[in-house]
Amino acid sequence: MSLRRPLVVALSLAWLAEAGVSVVRGRLGPYNQDARTQSAHSRARASDDRLHAAQCSPCHEAQVRDWRRSLHARSWNDPIFLAAYREEPMEFCRGCHAPLGDPSREPDALARSEGVSCVSCHAESRAHLASPRAVRATRDEHRGPGASRALCGGCHQFDFVVDRGAHRPLWRSATPMQDTVHEWERASRHLRATTGEARSCAQCHMPSGSHATRGVEQRDFVRRSVLVTVRACRVGAAWRVRATIGASDEVGHAVPTGDLHRQLRLVVANAQAIERDRVFVRRFERRMEVDPRGETFFSRAERLDARLAPPGPESEDEVSLELPIAGERRPRWRLEHWRTSPEVAQRQGLRTHEIMTVLEEGEALPCDAR
Ligand code: HEC
Ligand code: HEC
Ligand code: HEC
Ligand code: HEC
Ligand code: HEC
Repeated sequence: MSLRRPLVVALSLAWLAEAGVSVVRGRLGPYNQDARTQSAHSRARASDDRLHAAQCSPCHEAQVRDWRRSLHARSWNDPIFLAAYREEPMEFCRGCHAPLGDPSREPDALARSEGVSCVSCHAESRAHLASPRAVRATRDEHRGPGASRALCGGCHQFDFVVDRGAHRPLWRSATPMQDTVHEWERASRHLRATTGEARSCAQCHMPSGSHATRGVEQRDFVRRSVLVTVRACRVGAAWRVRATIGASDEVGHAVPTGDLHRQLRLVVANAQAIERDRVFVRRFERRMEVDPRGETFFSRAERLDARLAPPGPESEDEVSLELPIAGERRPRWRLEHWRTSPEVAQRQGLRTHEIMTVLEEGEALPCDAR
């Protein structure tokens, strides 16, 4: 990044240091890593000659049928997205959640109903429809092992942005809003070292090429990502509950990954239903940023990442919670997955059953049990 007015920046930094504010550095420019995906969309929009799923179904019926069940197909109509979008209706959101539309305005009916459609990942050219064997539908870098970064990464890895008004460029902060590809790179290093093989995003999320991506809506799929053991010992008048929890080799990144409000809660309860919990989530704080012109403004930076780290030795976490003893029965526990935080859900009018799933539950083991 070239600083056009280094003197001003230096002065601003000094002022901030004096004011005791920490500064993070971002940069100006597009938020999307895969600018080429975006430009392909713009080309299609310019001619208003947008390809959509119904045009593929005569020849690829299975993919279209499966895709309709995925959250990709519902990336705009998904009520949990819409609840968040109503609070923050930014152009930035539209670029990923309605990529067929013109991001500078509300998406039209086609862009809303298509969501992340076939053309977000394939067929940029109508020529494939006329001569499918002569004109490939997928770019080389979007096939096979490179696809995780080059294709999925275009939307699943991105930074917070700050919209400072129409006359100023969007500011891309240095803090990831979703960090899935970086987490996957960490997990891949570990999995290659231990099992000799790391899997791509599509191998886990689109097994046998199924376009019904697996994710939060498949409880068993999510449950397999966590290994948890809970024990309880009597210490005086209290139960001391100790849990070991970590990501399993069935997952390819941190748990939970993706949207910044996703969280796990490990809850323990005694016979009188007195509860204690531990939350696994990322926490953010407002942080001052400064642009090359020396202008300062607030953005968000990560304060703490208390999720389960990607599979590997750092992933295992020890949790210790105390409960008053009530009766003989050992405490019970449950592991909950929240699509968004309870606070955000309450503010947005979402009900608990729409966003929370109990992944696993049971009675704590005696403390000396193996
Ligand atoms: C007229 C029939 C037809 C239509 C319509 C059609 N395809 Fe294809 N497509 C084919 C055939 C045939 C192949 C296999 C080509 C081969 O193996 O050489 C293929 C292959 C593919 C492939 C896998 C190989 C590659 O090129 O990467 C993808 C992905 C694909 N099509 C996507 C699409 C999408 C998306 C649409 C709608 C925008 C679409 N197709 C519309 C016939 C069609
Ligand atoms: C989120 C990205 C994504 C979306 C959206 C998507 N696909 Fe795919 N598709 C893939 C991936 C990944 C593969 C596997 C590609 C590879 O490794 O060659 C694939 C493979 C295919 C193939 C080749 C199947 C085979 O057995 O060779 C076809 C055909 C296809 N997709 C059609 C479609 C159609 C039609 C749609 C829209 C209904 C669609 N895809 C939407 C990512 C996507
Ligand atoms: C080894 C298998 C595996 C690999 C590789 C993998 N994932 Fe996942 N993924 C999972 C499992 C299991 C979950 C459920 C647990 C969780 O939420 O972290 C999940 C969850 C997710 C979620 C949240 C699910 C939802 O519905 O909201 C997203 C998004 C996601 N993965 C994207 C990716 C992307 C992008 C990549 C590649 C960069 C990838 N995954 C690689 C197994 C995998
Ligand atoms: C054009 C942007 C875009 C691309 C490219 C993309 N995704 Fe997504 N993906 C999204 C959005 C947006 C959502 C969230 C939909 C929602 O819940 O609102 C999503 C959701 C998901 C989920 C959760 C889905 C579920 O059904 O629970 C998984 C898993 C996922 N994507 C995997 C992938 C994989 C694997 C690839 C690459 C093959 C990929 N995505 C490429 C935008 C994209
Ligand atoms: C660079 C692409 C990108 C941008 C920009 C983006 N999102 Fe997303 N969003 C995603 C992906 C990918 C997922 C899927 C992650 C997951 O499943 O955990 C997602 C998931 C979500 C979810 C969770 C949906 C569910 O079904 O649980 C919400 C809510 C959401 N986004 C809101 C927004 C809002 C509001 C904005 C704008 C302020 C925005 N997103 C901007 C890519 C994006």
